[in-house]
Amino acid sequence: MKQEYKFGFEEYDDISDLPPADASLLEEARKVTQKAYAPYSNFFVGAAAILNNGQKVFGTNQENASYPVGICAERVLLASASMLQTDEPIKTIAISYNNLSGNGESNRPVSPCGMCRQSLAEYEERVKQPIRLILAGMEGKVMIIESAKQLLPFSFGGGDMK
Ligand code: THU
Repeated sequence: MKQEYKFGFEEYDDISDLPPADASLLEEARKVTQKAYAPYSNFFVGAAAILNNGQKVFGTNQENASYPVGICAERVLLASASMLQTDEPIKTIAISYNNLSGNGESNRPVSPCGMCRQSLAEYEERVKQPIRLILAGMEGKVMIIESAKQLLPFSFGGGDMK
């Protein structure tokens, strides 16, 4: 039997079309890109999150001369959240980037890498709450996804080892 995997997402032309709380979280993600340590890729990623308890948490990519040692902004954020408040659900993460390499454009949403999807999925599973993702560059279109897990169909998790 043929099966299908589908998910819906929201798309906005610009940050000005977002509800105020989402717009301000995205502004913070854009701003925190300045704190990325990305001397090798010149691709500066910033993530800003709001937790259930109202706390804000941030992450930026942290690179290393030994390239695979580098960490993405999303996983820096998840580690910070987990360390600040154990098992606190994350309502929303806004993720932005400033691309100072390649074509220099930062005008469309990019979505988390595979490794970060796996980390995001486990965080959702652990605290039993989906994480909303707001994705955008420094300008232009914004995409909103209701649960990070939607980006990782057929994901492997702790439950598979029971
Ligand atoms: N990067 C992130 O921080 N998050 C993503 O979602 C994609 C990629 C980082 C890793 C590396 O430092 C740089 O962006 C280029 O891949």
